[in-house]
This record gives sequence, structure tokens and C-alpha cells, in this order.
Amino acid sequence: MDIIHVQGSGPLRGEIQIQGSKNAVLPILAAAVLIEGTCCLKNCPHISDVNCMCRLLESMGCSTYWDEDGLKVDTSTLKESRLPKELVTSMRSSIILLGPLLARCKEASLDYPGGCVIGDRPIDMHLHLLKEMGAVFTIQNEHIAGLAEQLTGTTIRLPFPSVGTTENGILASVMAKGRTTLLNCALEPEVQQLCHFLNAAGAKIEGVGTDCLRIEGVEKLYPVTYMIEADRIVAGTYIFSAVATMGRIGILNTPVKELDSVLEVVKQMGCRLSLEGKHLEVWQKERPKAVSLVQTQVYPGFPTDLQSVLMTTLAVSDGESQIEENIFSNRFKIAGELVRMGAEIRIEGRRARIKGKEKLYAMSLLAEDLRGGAALVLAGICAQGNSLIGNCHYIERGYEDICRDYRFLGAAVEKIVRS
Ligand code: UD1
Repeated sequence: MDIIHVQGSGPLRGEIQIQGSKNAVLPILAAAVLIEGTCCLKNCPHISDVNCMCRLLESMGCSTYWDEDGLKVDTSTLKESRLPKELVTSMRSSIILLGPLLARCKEASLDYPGGCVIGDRPIDMHLHLLKEMGAVFTIQNEHIAGLAEQLTGTTIRLPFPSVGTTENGILASVMAKGRTTLLNCALEPEVQQLCHFLNAAGAKIEGVGTDCLRIEGVEKLYPVTYMIEADRIVAGTYIFSAVATMGRIGILNTPVKELDSVLEVVKQMGCRLSLEGKHLEVWQKERPKAVSLVQTQVYPGFPTDLQSVLMTTLAVSDGESQIEENIFSNRFKIAGELVRMGAEIRIEGRRARIKGKEKLYAMSLLAEDLRGGAALVLAGICAQGNSLIGNCHYIERGYEDICRDYRFLGAAVEKIVRS
């Protein structure tokens, strides 16, 4: 098992460039299934979830390769609509292949998806939406067999603005017969990027950036080159890292508009921000102040994906704070590890009460999910002594090289490869 060795260190200082967005590139790779020919994704992050999605595409007969321009995906040789269990069950995002496969192959066969265990992650909304468009599913022993002779446009209101369901709906609709109206859609920037990619390929999606998408089905989509935007969650991770360590860092390509709710919280913690173009300077002069309550919400609210690094930051802040997690049911897993490091955290249902401590103590820690893993690396940087973080493959699902990034910012963080 590979581990990350973290030496507790002082304030982070330096400049950093943010990788392309994981949550944008995964549905865009799924969208490539709808396009015969070779698409090019620039600024695609080198992360294990992208590798997994590429292997899924290859298992369908597509080819994927990296060159100096980015990631190329050629789906002209796609022939297989059955997805291998070991890949599907290793990544939640495999479910967003269901819509495109039904659209292109008229059938799909896959197991229930996997992913980080951060609470119940059902797929009922995905299946319901596709059924409304004419798909028929047979589900046996967590295996899904889907058929759709002709996906047909209709009006569908999502019961909750689920990101993945909105994406599956878009992917199923762009080449469906007639017009689809999706109501109560997710507004996340990654959904908007998917729409921009598809519209560049010839799709007709209106209402991008609103909760009502109107999609006119087209006969054909055409290969495109598309630039993936910077990852707002990775940027947020390093913003909180500067705050927690009382550091001063520069982020060269900040997706600043997407970080409104996050910047609002760090400002409350006493953080100074200055922005020039996309260059964001983050400066925390004193110990961060506690915040009375941060609630995770769908976009543009505070993102659940930054809740864990927020928790680490509040664990070393001055005063008592509360976090309310409203998106996933089991996303306070790092609380136990932080408490072992000396943090004072009480979990009461959806709420975490955190009394900040001046010091955390180094420990051997175990990551249990992607964002929680990154938050533990930050806790190690804030702690006194040397920490070890196991299960670091979780972190590699979404961060290209978290050790490299923190080293750029002056921390001693190193991966130790164990055979
Ligand atoms: C996406 C993001 C993930 C982020 C999450 C919320 C990607 C690849 N992942 O995940 O990083 O944390 O959005 O912003 O983009 N739900 C159902 N039934 C369904 C689908 C979802 O009950 O059929 C529930 C989920 O259990 C969860 C909530 O809806 O409680 C939100 O999930 P959703 O927005 O779908 O998240 P993902 O698309 O899985």
C-alpha cells in the first residue's frame, strides 16, 4: 500500500497552477461516446479516475491516447455496450455512460457503480429519467441491462438537482428524437462545461447555466477540441490550506467565479484576498477565526467536496464552528482521524461541532475517500511531527500529484511507494 509522508510545517508560501477539473472531464469523456471520430481534451488532468474512464472507453472498442495537445479519444471503432464489472464498480462516474450508450448502441449492460463511500449513492433518479425517455431496464443482482430502441424527448422534472442525473439526462437527450426539457437541473459549473462541449460538437442545448435545459435532438455530433477549465475543488483545497497554515499563496489560474461561496467563508475566517485577472493571492495573517455555521448546498452554495478540508481548517481555528452536511449522508468520516490528532469534534446527525485547537499532533492516518484524504494531508501539514496517510490511492482519483503541489508551496510531503 502506497502512503504519503507528511512533515508538520509552518505557513505555506508559493505559487501554484491548478489542474483541469475532474468533475468536468469525466462526463465530457462520456459525451465522446456520442461523437464518431477523435475529440481532443486539452488541460485534461492526469488522475486515476480519468485513467479508469479511458479504460472503460477502451473496453467498448474506443481508443484513447495522450499527446502534446492533451487527451485524444477516438470512438469510431466503438462496438461493445457491455462494461466490465471491475471498472464500473471502481468509479461512481461510470453511471454517466448509461445515457450515451443507450443513445449510441441502443443498449447497455453494466453493474451498479462504485466510488467513494460517502453515504448512500443510489441511481434511482438516473434510471427514472432514462425510463421517461423510453429506455427499459432489467435489474438483477445489482446488474443493469438497458434497452432503448429510440430515446425520445419529453419533459422531466428532477426531484433533486443531482449533478450526475442532470448529466445523464443531457447525454441521453442531445441525439434523442424531438425536444427534451429538463427541469430542476443541477447548476454546477461542470454541467455547464458539458453543455458547452456538446454545443461545440453540434448539439442544441439552450438554458445553459439555468435550472431549465431545453435540448433539441440532432442527427449527428462532430469531433471537437475542448479546453477543460481549472478544478474549483482543487483550487479550494489549496485556498483552505493557506488559511489553515496561516500562509500566503498565489493561485495562477483560479476559477474565481465558481468559488464565490468558498471565498465568502475564508473571508469570514480573516483571510485577505486579492485578485488580478485569474491570479488570486490568499493571505492569512493570523490564526483563522471560527465560523458560526457553514452549510453544504448544491451550487452556487458551499460545495460538499470542500467540506472535509474546511473541517481540518476549522479544527485549528480560533473558536467554535459548525458544519452542516446536506448533500451526502456519511461525509464526516475524517472527524474520527482528526480527533485522534487532538481535534475536538462532535458529530450530531448532519451537524459537526468543531472547537478549534492550537495544535494537532502527528499520527498514522487512513484515508477513506478522495476529499477526506486530501484533508488528512492538510491536517498532517498543520500537525506537530511526522504523519503517515495510508490509502492514498483515493487521493490520486482526483489530485494529479498532491505531494508535488504541497512541495511547491513549501511543505515536506512525499509519497512512499511500497511494493
Ligand atoms: C457529483 C460529483 C461529486 C459531488 C456531487 C455533489 C462528479 C463526478 N462527482 O457526484 O464530486 O460531491 O456531485 O456535488 O461530478 N442521488 C440519489 N439518487 C440518484 C442520484 C443521486 O438519491 O439517482 C443523491 C445522492 O445520493 C446524493 C445527492 O443525490 O445524496 C447528490 O448526488 P449527485 O448530485 O448525483 O452527485 P454525483 O453526481 O454522484
